[in-house]
Amino acid sequence: MPEYDAYSVYYDLLYGNKQEDVPFYLSMAKDTGGPVCELACGTGRVLLPLARVGFEVTGIDMSQAMLDKFQAKLDKEPREVQARVALKCADMRDYRFSKKFKLVFCAFNSFQHLLTTEDQLACLASVREYVAGEGRLVLNAFAPDYSRLTGRAETMVHVERDPETGRDMVVTNITKRDPATQTMDAFQCVDRIGDDGTVRRYPASFTLCWIHNREMHLLLRCAGFEVVNVYGGYDKRPFDYVSGIQLFAAKKA
Ligand SMILES: C[S@@+](CC[C@H](N)C(=O)[O-])C[C@H]1O[C@@H](n2cnc3c(N)ncnc32)[C@H](O)[C@@H]1O
Repeated sequence: MPEYDAYSVYYDLLYGNKQEDVPFYLSMAKDTGGPVCELACGTGRVLLPLARVGFEVTGIDMSQAMLDKFQAKLDKEPREVQARVALKCADMRDYRFSKKFKLVFCAFNSFQHLLTTEDQLACLASVREYVAGEGRLVLNAFAPDYSRLTGRAETMVHVERDPETGRDMVVTNITKRDPATQTMDAFQCVDRIGDDGTVRRYPASFTLCWIHNREMHLLLRCAGFEVVNVYGGYDKRPFDYVSGIQLFAAKKA
């Protein structure tokens, strides 16, 4: 079962209102034109706003449960928006489209779910087949925080407002890092208070790898891409490590 099937139950509670990267992808889409493809589109947090403003979009994700959440949102949209969206349950490591896209992007660290160099290169080789000649590929990965990577285990607990009930909910993240494989196992759970006062726990777990800046340059080069820009923030500032964000914009070499 894909890891995000369990996560889909509460993903939008935590991230459904995350907006900070949406204007960036919108601006990239305006620069390239459509059609647009998002790899690992999840519940449509980024792709749906692009469809609303008129882009023809395709989203792929390997979790049908995440796509079902996306489809449920789409069902409430006007027909013309629905007509602009295509969803496909597929693995970004080997999916081949017959059509070409002017913009292909992978947001919110999703490329880091590809845990090995082989998987990352397989995905890039596949994308190279369906990104248009002068089109762009945009990959987002967090910039590894060197001061945190040495700590093998980390637990963070915080309280947030539950957007559905307005009550407090407790979010726990337990991370275990393995520097040998550059991967981190994340266990996350959300404790929500029901109408009758009982607490219900929603757990999920997933694994991410971290990707260093020069490593991503090499991956893209090996896969036949030329890096055009590396941004360090959604406002397109140059990458400087401090922001913690890496945004690679590349075209076919
Ligand atoms: C952090 S969520 C991001 C969802 C969405 N892009 C967003 O920004 O809200 C990561 C998504 O990656 C998907 N995913 C992980 N590995 C994948 C793969 N190999 N192929 C396609 N989707 C994958 C998961 O199912 C999940 O929906």
